[in-house]
Amino acid sequence: MSTSESTVAIIGTGNIGSTLAAEFAAGGQGFLLAGRDAEGARKIAAGLDGYAQAVSVDEAVQRADVLVVAVWLPDFEQFIAQYGGQLAGKVIVDPTNPVGPDGAGGYRKVIGEQESSGQILAGLLPAGARLVKAFGTLSAPSLSAAARREPDRAVLFYAADDDSTGDLVADLIRAAGFDPVLIGGLDQSIRIEMFGDLHEYGALGRVVTETEALKAL
Ligand SMILES: NC(=O)c1ccc[n+]([C@@H]2O[C@H](COP(=O)([O-])OP(=O)(O)OC[C@H]3O[C@@H](n4cnc5c(N)ncnc54)[C@H](OP(=O)(O)O)[C@@H]3O)[C@@H](O)[C@H]2O)c1
Repeated sequence: MSTSESTVAIIGTGNIGSTLAAEFAAGGQGFLLAGRDAEGARKIAAGLDGYAQAVSVDEAVQRADVLVVAVWLPDFEQFIAQYGGQLAGKVIVDPTNPVGPDGAGGYRKVIGEQESSGQILAGLLPAGARLVKAFGTLSAPSLSAAARREPDRAVLFYAADDDSTGDLVADLIRAAGFDPVLIGGLDQSIRIEMFGDLHEYGALGRVVTETEALKAL
């Protein structure tokens, strides 16, 4: 299946959800947009040249084949618990960074040092739902600033266990205005989560092009 044959949804209209919505629309990708604040989702969708249709979260889950769940880790866990079996057969895209405030103006990891939210969330999904880790390696402002960069596009890393699912999300990364670079299976997720070696707020420390990304891998 390709993105043109799939229904894509973004769930969550906060920083990363609304930034991704703008970049999908700029890249000509149509999608459903769902948030808990229905009016907020409608306002965002109204500014996106007809590429976004605001719907309820229930409707997005029902209609979409690919769900980008742009919420914090505890809310993602809650989302999986709520929709459970309805997620079977769907591609679930996970941009989460498992962090929270450290009390000193920074962030700290909220799961074990060697754990990744990608693997935790994949383990919670029902059989037949496939998770892809993507869209979490850059901050929302960096994502917005680096999309469709010329002459060399910036990279977004992703991790997937399954080739066809990964290819689908690679298409979405292209639509958002970046070159997709696969880093491996979900067991590599930790590398593209905050503090990981391929994250803007980790050892990588910046936005990179494909040539630089291949050196860093
Ligand atoms: N911000 C960044 O620069 C950035 C970069 C990369 C990755 N991320 C990751 O992206 C995720 C979201 O971060 P953010 O900065 O966008 O957070 P945010 O601005 O706080 O937005 C989170 C959004 O999730 C919504 N939400 C929570 N539970 C929901 C549910 N069950 N159904 C629908 N919407 C729900 C919230 O709605 P309400 O307003 O109703 O609470 C809010 O709009 C996090 O996991 C974060 O680690 C963020």
